[in-house]
Amino acid sequence: MAIIKLLTGSVYGTAEAVATEVKAALEQSGHTVIKAEGLDAVLRDGADAVLVCTSTTGQGDLPENLLLLYQELKERFPLLGHLAYGIIALGDSSYGDTYCGGGRLMDELLTELTAKRVAEPLMIDASETASPETIAVPWAVEWASQL
Ligand SMILES: Cc1cc2nc3c(=O)[nH]c(=O)nc-3n(C[C@H](O)[C@H](O)[C@H](O)COP(=O)(O)O)c2cc1C
Repeated sequence: MAIIKLLTGSVYGTAEAVATEVKAALEQSGHTVIKAEGLDAVLRDGADAVLVCTSTTGQGDLPENLLLLYQELKERFPLLGHLAYGIIALGDSSYGDTYCGGGRLMDELLTELTAKRVAEPLMIDASETASPETIAVPWAVEWASQL
């Protein structure tokens, strides 16, 4: 069973609600899930994996509550080769080129930091579903089973 640091980015609460359901499902599967805010919390205590659950705001931007961590990671550039990661990106395809841009930014940065991507990022389209948790929860359980 894995120790997973959960990072969330949300403006209006949708991604936060999805993350809460994902956390409960992963814990039910026997994993330890720790919500982490700030880089020190990510690096502290050891972990097997990082799971990002974020929406996109602006024009392909990260929500402010995850942007701070993104900037901290860019500045301090800790190599994360010991961590696996997964991305749950919430967006809306009606935004065109910036669809799920926040999740893509985190995906690119974690790869640059040498973290190991387990599974393709999950992208959930608000134009297609009003209940993103029904897609995110089974995806996350499957993702965690590969850790
Ligand atoms: C002001 C605003 C800008 C947005 N910009 C984008 C965007 O550039 N790309 C995208 O895929 N979705 C975009 N979205 C859609 C949100 O990411 C989507 O509705 C998401 O489910 C919101 O989750 P949240 O409540 O956790 O913030 C935008 C939504 C708003 C309100």
